[in-house]
Amino acid sequence: MRVIIEADAAAAAATAADFIAALVRRKPDAVLGLATGGTPVSCYQLLIEMHRQEGLDFGQVRTFNLDEYVGLPATHPQSYHRFMQEQLFDHVNLQPERCQLPDGVADDLPAACAAYEAAIREAGGIDLQLLGIGTDGHIAFNEPGSSLAGRTRVKHLTAETIRDNARFFGDEASVPRLAVTMGVGTILEARCCLLLATGAHKAEAVRAAVEGPVSASITASALQLHPDVVMVLDEAAAGELQRSEYYKMAEAAERTRSAAAE
Ligand code: PGA
Repeated sequence: MRVIIEADAAAAAATAADFIAALVRRKPDAVLGLATGGTPVSCYQLLIEMHRQEGLDFGQVRTFNLDEYVGLPATHPQSYHRFMQEQLFDHVNLQPERCQLPDGVADDLPAACAAYEAAIREAGGIDLQLLGIGTDGHIAFNEPGSSLAGRTRVKHLTAETIRDNARFFGDEASVPRLAVTMGVGTILEARCCLLLATGAHKAEAVRAAVEGPVSASITASALQLHPDVVMVLDEAAAGELQRSEYYKMAEAAERTRSAAAE
C-alpha cells in the first residue's frame, strides 16, 4: 500500500487528480471508477480545470460509479446521478452513454445489480477506482459486516452513515435507508484503487484501514489485500497513523527516484 500524506486537503485533492489525469493521458479509453460524497468534489474541480485549460480529453473514457441510493430517481437533487452530473459530467467531454451508475429505481434491483457487474466486465474492468472512506470504515456503501467478497447489491445503511449523510438531505429522516453498491469484491478487481481521505474525522477509520487487521468490520481494510492501492491523505486524516514518518520517508524517496528517472 502506498500512503501519500499531503499537507492539506487541497494538496491531497491535487495529487488524486494528477493520478487520474496521468491515467487518462496514458490511456485515453481508460475505465474510471468514480465516487461521490464531499471528499472528491475538489478533485473533480481540478479535473474540470485540466479539461478546460489543458484539454484533458475524456472523450473515450468510460466511468462506473460506486453506488446510488435506492428509490432516488436520477433527477432527484440528492441522487448520485445528479451529483455526478453537477460535479463532473456537465463540465467535461465525457460521453453520457459511457457514464454509468447503479440503478436505484429498477423494478428488479438484483437483476440491475447483475447487469451492472456485467457492464463493468464488458468494459474490460476498471483501471482506476477512486474511493472515499466513511467514518465507519466503509468503502462505497459496504457497511461494517459486509462480505469482503461481496458484489454489487442492495445494502442497508448504518445509523452512522445516515447521520453523516444527513447534511446533504437537511435531516436524517430524509436519508434513504438502502443503497445499491458495488461490493468489496467488485472494488478489489479494479486494477488500481485510490482512496482519498481528508479531515480529522476520518483519522480513526484511516488508521484502522491502513494499520488495523483486515476485517469486515472496517471494509476499507480489505484494500490491504490489493496489490496496487494508493491512499492519498491530508495530515489531519493521517493523524492517527503509527507509521506516518515511514510513509513520508518512503514517498519522498520514491519521488526523488522517479524525478531522477525522468
Ligand atoms: P464523504 O463520504 O466524502 O462525504 O466524507 C465518504 C464516504 O462515505 O465514502
